[in-house]
Amino acid sequence: METVVSGIRPTGNLHLGNYFGAVKSFLQMQNEYNCYFFIADWHSLTTRPKPENIVNSARTILTEYLACGIDPDKATIYTQSDVPEVLELYLYLNMNAYLGEMERCTTFKEKARKQPDNVNAGLLTYPTLMAADILIHKAVKVPVGKDQEQNMEMARKFARRFNAVYGVDFFPEPSSFSLAAKAVKIPGLDGSGKMGKSEGNCIYLMDDAVTIRKKVMKAVTDAGPTAPYSEKPEVIQNLFTFLDIVSSKETYDFFDEKWNDCSIRYGDLKKQLAVDIAAFNAPIRERILEYSANTAWLDKIARQGAEKAHESAAKTIKEVREIIGFRTY
Ligand code: TYM
Repeated sequence: METVVSGIRPTGNLHLGNYFGAVKSFLQMQNEYNCYFFIADWHSLTTRPKPENIVNSARTILTEYLACGIDPDKATIYTQSDVPEVLELYLYLNMNAYLGEMERCTTFKEKARKQPDNVNAGLLTYPTLMAADILIHKAVKVPVGKDQEQNMEMARKFARRFNAVYGVDFFPEPSSFSLAAKAVKIPGLDGSGKMGKSEGNCIYLMDDAVTIRKKVMKAVTDAGPTAPYSEKPEVIQNLFTFLDIVSSKETYDFFDEKWNDCSIRYGDLKKQLAVDIAAFNAPIRERILEYSANTAWLDKIARQGAEKAHESAAKTIKEVREIIGFRTY
């Protein structure tokens, strides 16, 4: 059975971008693949979170993974920092990662611009840690959103380079996976390209109907179509992207027709969209609230996941050590 790995940084609650970019694929893949879904807590250290936030955020993501429907009997759910073998592989991959190529990554350049007083080496080597997460289980598929494309390109490069340096055919080249024909990018409703925590424009799975309505009603729009069947500008296309993912086909077609005959009222569209997002969230939100009270159960799942992930990682590291030339006892 082919292996799948993916992770999410625990920097708060899961948002709709995380869900439609990654988690939705997890839900399908857990039935067909050997899946490892993890909480990328080491990755979150690039921004110096407080210790209490690290513990709580990891538990939040675990709870929300489960509330979305990830089944711990089918998939291995674990926290990255429970599997130290990842760090050993990170070190080996870093030895074959070049300063120039790391500095050229757009994600590095963006982060460096956002936090100029903390351009740390962890930020620079973020792609090698991500490659280690994937290669530690020799995964072939990685369900991620469009924003991770460059990191995935780097992971493939590091897999190829390791194989070339040691003359082996050990690591498979992992590919991004998306349920849709193209990689998913969930937009922000504030006119920015992407929904994201650092963009501060998220609709969270935990948001209730009132919060969602407030956020959606604030969505950026324009003065309205001036000619029938005109192309939708980005901010309007963004609203339709949301209708497409959470509303019925009838609702989508209804507003699309209104757009095409220039009779659309954005206020009506937003109200409907807010209702549909709230309906999508409601069962997940209920389960988040229910599961978060059951700390013993959550701890048990975290322990079991750590054990299973550790077993797979230890096997890879033993082989990697042999390939590199370290003695294994
Ligand atoms: P992170 O925590 O930023 O996001 C987690 C997942 O959600 C997807 N995503 C989106 N998809 C579509 N539209 C959006 N607006 C949107 N926002 C977020 C991301 O593509 C991602 O799949 N580097 C990763 C975490 C990571 C990882 C890994 C992922 C660490 N190691 C190994 C896969 C494999 C990150 O920061 O994702």
